[in-house]
Amino acid sequence: MVRIVIQKKIKKFNKVISVDGDKSLSIRSLLIGSQSYGLCKIKNLPKSGDVLSTIIGLRKLGIKIFFKNKICYLYGNGLNGFNYKKNILIDAGNSGTFARLLLGLLIKSPNEIRISGDKSLSKRDFKRIMDPLEQFGAKFKSKNKNNLPIKILGSEFLKPINYFETRGSAQCKSAVILAALNTPGMTKINAKKSRNHTELFLKYLNLPLKIKNKKTCDVIEVHGENQFKSFDYEIPGDISSSSFFIVLTLLIKNSKLKIRNVNVNPSRIGFIKIINKMGAKIKFINKRYVFGEQLADICVNSQKTFKPINCPIKLNSNAIDEFLVIFLLASKASGISKFKKLEELNKKESPRLKLASKILKKIGVKVKLGTGSIKIFGNPKLKINKKIFIKNYYKDHRIFMTSVIAALSLGGKWIIEDMDSYKSSFPSFLKILQKIGYKF
Ligand code: S3P
Repeated sequence: MVRIVIQKKIKKFNKVISVDGDKSLSIRSLLIGSQSYGLCKIKNLPKSGDVLSTIIGLRKLGIKIFFKNKICYLYGNGLNGFNYKKNILIDAGNSGTFARLLLGLLIKSPNEIRISGDKSLSKRDFKRIMDPLEQFGAKFKSKNKNNLPIKILGSEFLKPINYFETRGSAQCKSAVILAALNTPGMTKINAKKSRNHTELFLKYLNLPLKIKNKKTCDVIEVHGENQFKSFDYEIPGDISSSSFFIVLTLLIKNSKLKIRNVNVNPSRIGFIKIINKMGAKIKFINKRYVFGEQLADICVNSQKTFKPINCPIKLNSNAIDEFLVIFLLASKASGISKFKKLEELNKKESPRLKLASKILKKIGVKVKLGTGSIKIFGNPKLKINKKIFIKNYYKDHRIFMTSVIAALSLGGKWIIEDMDSYKSSFPSFLKILQKIGYKF
């Protein structure tokens, strides 16, 4: 097990960077490409653990994927065009997005397919996916009712469903949308707001899909069994990966950062809205639309003070992957910040709400943890001059990266274990830190 030792804060910087391609869009472009007809060309696909699990899994299902001059080429076989041996096992590794969305594409599979994952993924809830897919007609087997490994057997006689998604989970919504592609008739989804990449992607490919954006939910109607052509796609930078560098810049005196070409889809920028309310003044420049998605360059300047926040729950789902760095910023705010209805945060790669509270206490921040809530008593003078040891039991990539950002901005001697974890989502993380001046 590799660990990193950090004993110096990072010095002020003024840099322009690019982060790795967006995880959600990378996995979606590969999965949707696998159902198209013809040759897809995907640029800027990150070689992260989650994307590699997706590529290896799709290859096992008979999809030809190769790389030439850093571009990914994928031959789509059309809807339900997978071609595979009996008794195959797809290992989704650490990727909940791949495992859950793939199940949606397998509801017509004529043979049983076994899906497994690593220790962290095997603890996560899959009942939320199996329930709606069973309504379409798919069958599941699992030793432990809710978790991986599970076996899926599709059906030839699928029926469209009327699905209410109430958690704000884009993975649940997307699995059902993808299942609807292979199902005759019209599937109707009424989903609590969450990232909308799947529906935007399919709409952009001209599939018969209707989206109605209501105040608290989105209504999506998908007409299934329509073949579509392959596409060329370029993955934009990931706002979730950018969030680590945005918070680092905010906390390091006299620093400035521009992050080029980031996906700033309104359903992904809850984080920016929250930290701007805390006084961050983040700017988007060069705004443009590509493939139905909004992109921009992000400009950040360090700030001297931060206001505490009573975080609006309507922003929770749009900032769900960024709460760890938001909590870090809240611990430097001039007052008490409150976050509520964050039960879903304990269902990620690790129980993040509980671990955040543990780590904040370790570094001397007063916190009050509830079942789905946390109060953080900010201290603008927070500095660390002791040894901090972070054991990352679930090898959660975001726990690792947040700990590194805390070490580089607050000081002290940090020993952070399970260093390899960052590679599952953001393989360039340490290289970019070096680029902005940190010497490991
Ligand atoms: C994702 C949705 C979110 C997010 C995950 C990626 C996606 O999960 O946390 O990192 O790409 O759809 P949930 O759907 O469980 O909220």
